[in-house]
Formats: sequence, structure tokens, C-alpha cells
Amino acid sequence: MRIIDLRSDTVTLPNRKMKEVMLTADLGDDGYFEDPTICKLEKKAANIFKKDSGLFVASGTMANMVSLGALANHDDIVFVDSLSHIYRCEEGISKYLHLKVVPIEGLHEKLLANEALSLPNIGNNSVNKKILCLENTFAMKYGVPINSMQIERVCDFAKKHNLLVHIDGSRIFNAIIALKQSPVDLAKRVNTLSFCLSKGLSCPYGAIVVGNKENISRARIVRNQLGGGLRQGGLMAATGIFALDHMIHRLNGDHRRARLLAEGLNSQGYKIDINLVKTNILFLYTKTDRYKDSLQSFLFEHGVRVIAKYNKMIRMVTHYEINDEDIKKVLYLTEIFLKNNRNHY
Ligand SMILES: Cc1ncc(COP(=O)(O)O)c(C=O)c1O
Repeated sequence: MRIIDLRSDTVTLPNRKMKEVMLTADLGDDGYFEDPTICKLEKKAANIFKKDSGLFVASGTMANMVSLGALANHDDIVFVDSLSHIYRCEEGISKYLHLKVVPIEGLHEKLLANEALSLPNIGNNSVNKKILCLENTFAMKYGVPINSMQIERVCDFAKKHNLLVHIDGSRIFNAIIALKQSPVDLAKRVNTLSFCLSKGLSCPYGAIVVGNKENISRARIVRNQLGGGLRQGGLMAATGIFALDHMIHRLNGDHRRARLLAEGLNSQGYKIDINLVKTNILFLYTKTDRYKDSLQSFLFEHGVRVIAKYNKMIRMVTHYEINDEDIKKVLYLTEIFLKNNRNHY
């Protein structure tokens, strides 16, 4: 049975061409800046966002960590949305960098609704640096993209309040494609931006941070302190170069399929915020956790994997491994499930 894995875009596998570029990559010791493939990838990423420099790291989590470690020192303050990945899943920032991560409820929602932003008065203004983090796209809100005007607004606010800005752009290329805006416009006023190679871009490994020279050299030190120094990492960086050349425009297809899936589920009677589906992530709301779990199990038995760990919500993510036929099959299954369980929905 073909497995249709909608749990995350992290499940994608490197394609044959990616494996080929790994085999032929020029390699060296990146500890001495001598891996030409890593250097090329970092330069390419920096150029895309028109920043001075880039840094190749192991993962999205490490990218956020080294970015914040470059911008801040012990006891400095990091404001994040309470639903952000940084707050929910990246404890290392407080545990190992000793930064104070302060969750703000509805930060992204206010931003997207053009409402006034405000932050609690925490820390010592004359001593502590303060950093505001955004997540673009915002995973827990259907992967909604934040556009350049909204980012400008945040940066104006940040400037007024003496804040630095970091963007967790793990899925920034989904935002760029969905918004049809340039990478430069989404990054020009922020201090650091990180993005993942191993999500929508389908690489087996890695993430990149871009920023000015000083911040990236500091980020490199933090990366090495965390044990993330690379040696012949060009093997992996080669897939990143390939992905930046060939895997970005195809994200349109992932977005179209997410939309197809959302529209299909909506017309079958499932509860879904259809207007929020602009990239590759969607959530389906159920009345009870029991119903949610039985839908997940039913799909699992028929070869479809979804995430059901959230309160009464199922998450589905489209990506490189998902095609139009898969979407049809999922909709066929959800229709059968609904017919058999309508009374409980
Ligand atoms: C928005 C966001 N940021 C950061 C990460 C962390 O990335 P990684 O799993 O590569 O550490 C994820 C992972 O799913 C994510 O969705």
C-alpha cells in the first residue's frame, strides 16, 4: 500500500538528483572555511536575501538558537508568539543560552489583523537587549504567510522600542511563493532570518541563517559551541544548492494541493478555516478528541498519516511526496469516515 504521509513536510526524501549532487560535491574542512560547497551554499543564501553572510547549520532549531545566541547575551529577553515553534518546542534557548523567552498570546494574530502591538515591560531597558521573533510562515495558524508590509510594521515597532528582530523562516519560501513577494522584501529590515532546507525544499538535512557579517560570525561561534561545527558538510550542502535552484517554484503545487484538500474537506462538512489555507498546512477541527483519534486511526489503517496530537485538531501538510491522486484518496477516505460517523461529529 502506498503511504500518504501528511504529518509534516519534514518527511520528504531527497530525490535522485539530490543524491547525485552529493556524490560529486567538492569537499573540505569547514572548520577552516575550506568546504567549497558549504561556502557556495552560504553565499547563495545570503545573496537571495541580500544579506552579508549565511551560516549552514544542522536544523531549524539550531538555526533559531544560533541566531538568538548571536543577537543576545545571558538574561536578555526574547518575545515570541505563545504558539510559535520557538516557544512550544525549543527549550534549549532558555536552558542552554539562558535567554528569557517571553510568550505573547496572539502576537501574530494582532499583526495579521493590523491591530496595535504591545509587549510587557520586562527586564532592564538599559541593560537587557530585547528581541522580537516572528515565524513566517506561522505553522500553528495554517502556515499563514506574513507579508512585507506586516513585517515593515513590526520593524517600525521594533525600532521605536529598541528591539532586534529575528524571523524563524523555516518555511519562508512557502511565504515567498504564496505572497509572490521577493525574499529581499521579507528580510531587509530584520537582523537575522533562518530557513530550513529539510522541510518544503526536501533536503535531507540542514538550515541556514542569514544576517550581517558580525551577527553571522557570532552565530558561527555559538554553532561551534553547541557542537554543530561542520567538517565535510558539503555532502549535505550540495543538496541545499540544488534545492535553492530547483525546489522553490514547485511549492506552488503543494499550496494548490493543500487548497484542494481543504476545499474538499470543507464541502464534505468538516470544520476548517478555509480562508487561512494559503500555503501547505491545514487543520481540521473536530468536536471531540475521541472523534479526532478515531479519524486518525481510520486514515492510518488505510495508509494515510496525519498528526492528531493537538486538542481536537488534526494537522495535514502537503509536500514533495504528495500528488493529486493522493489528495483524491484522502478525500475519498474522509467522505467514507464521515458517512459512517456523522452522528458523532
Ligand atoms: C516553524 C518551525 N520552526 C522551527 C522548526 C524546527 O526545525 P527542525 O525540526 O529542523 O529543528 C520547525 C519544525 O518543524 C518549525 O515548524
